[in-house]
Amino acid sequence: MAESNTRPVVYLDNAATSFPKAPTVAPAISEFLQNAAVNPGRSAHRLSLHAATLVEKTRLKLAELIHAEDHRRIIFTSGCTASLNLAIDGILQHFAGKGVTPHVVSTVVEHNSVLRPLFAAQQRGLVSLTLVPCDTAGRIDPADIARALTPDTTLVVVTAASNALGTIQPLGAIGKVVAEADGPLFLVDAAQGMGLLDIDVQRDSVDLLAFPGHKTLLGPTGIGGLYVGRRVCSVDSPGSSLLQAVFSGGTGSDSQNPSMPDLLPDHYEPGTLNTTGIAGLAAAAEWLAQHNPREMLQHEQSLANLAADRLRDLGGVTVFGPGSNERVGIVAFCTESFVPQELAALLDDPFNIAVRAGLHCAPRVHEHLGLLPGGTVRISFGPFNTESDVDAVVRALEQLL
Ligand SMILES: Cc1ncc(COP(=O)(O)O)c(C=O)c1O
Repeated sequence: MAESNTRPVVYLDNAATSFPKAPTVAPAISEFLQNAAVNPGRSAHRLSLHAATLVEKTRLKLAELIHAEDHRRIIFTSGCTASLNLAIDGILQHFAGKGVTPHVVSTVVEHNSVLRPLFAAQQRGLVSLTLVPCDTAGRIDPADIARALTPDTTLVVVTAASNALGTIQPLGAIGKVVAEADGPLFLVDAAQGMGLLDIDVQRDSVDLLAFPGHKTLLGPTGIGGLYVGRRVCSVDSPGSSLLQAVFSGGTGSDSQNPSMPDLLPDHYEPGTLNTTGIAGLAAAAEWLAQHNPREMLQHEQSLANLAADRLRDLGGVTVFGPGSNERVGIVAFCTESFVPQELAALLDDPFNIAVRAGLHCAPRVHEHLGLLPGGTVRISFGPFNTESDVDAVVRALEQLL
C-alpha cells in the first residue's frame, strides 16, 4: 500500500513506473542536490571530480548487474526510449547512403519505443523490416527468429519481457540463434527486466541492451542506459563501428576534435549528464544489490499468479499472458461488463486502485491477439506490493462486475 496525496492508494502500475522507489533513492537525490550537484568531467575541482566518481561508480554497478565486460560500455541516456532510438538509429544511419538496405528482425510484442523508430526508418526506405509473431501467451519462438534472418539482417530487436502481457522471452535461446547467424547484432529492450531478470549479456550473446532507471531498477525517471557490447565496437575506437553517434556536442574531453571523442562512453554521451538521476539510480542499484533479485522476481510472480487465478475465478473475466514462472509481475485482463478504460477509471475512483488500461504502447501485440481498439486492463506488481493489494483489487472487481 502506497501513500499518495494523503489518500491511500493501492499502486498496481509498476510496469509504467515503479512506485514507491527503493527507500534510499529520495535521500540520495536530496543529499546530492544539497551538497554535490555540480557538472562531472568538465572541471578539475574536487566537487566536479566527486560527481565524476559517482557517475563511474554507478556505471560499474550497472555493468555488474548484466555482467558487462567493462563499465565503460554502459552509456547513460535519458531513458529506455532514448537508448533504443540511439541503438536503432545509430545502426541504420551507418548504412544510410551506402546503397545497402539493412534488414531488421523484431517482434509484434515490442513497445512503440522500438516500433516507431523502425517504422519511421521503413517509411524513409532505410530499412526492410520483419516482425515475428508471438503465440497467444505472448511467447516468441527462437525458431521463428531464425527463419526470419536473411543474409542482409543487421539487427534483431527483442524485448526481455512484454510490458503488455508480462511474458518473459527466451533471451539466451534467441541470442544463440543470432550469434550462430554470425552477422546481425542482438539488441534487447530490458525495460521490464533490468535488475530483476537473470540477464548476462556475455552468456546470452547480447550486443546492445537498453534499460530505464525508473522501472525494475526502482530509481528515478529521466535516467537510463545502453550497454554497447564488444561486437558493436571496441572501447577505444567506437567512431569506426556500426553504431553511429546520433547526437554530438560537448563531452568535456578531447574538445579540439571536431567529432565526438573516439572512446567509450564519451562517443555516445554528449551534453551534461543527468547526475541527479544518476545519484538516485546509484542508490537504487545499491539497494537492489542488497536484495536478492531472484526472490524479488518470485515475489512479484507469485502475486501475479495469485491475481491471475483469482481474476479467472470471478467469471466474465479473460486473463491473458503465460502461466506461473514465465511472466514478470504483470497481469492483463478484460471483462465482459466494461471496456478497459472504464474499468480502470472505476478502480481509481472510488476504489483508489491505480492500474493502467489500453494498449500500453504495444499496439501490434494487441492487434495480433484481436484486442484492438480497447486493449486490456493491466495490473503490475513491484517488490513492495503484498497479497493484501491482490485482495483489494479482487474485492473491488467483485463489487463492480
Ligand atoms: C517494454 C518497454 N520498452 C520500452 C519502454 C520505454 O521506457 P521509457 O518510457 O522509460 O523510455 C517501456 C516503457 O513502458 C517498456 O515497457
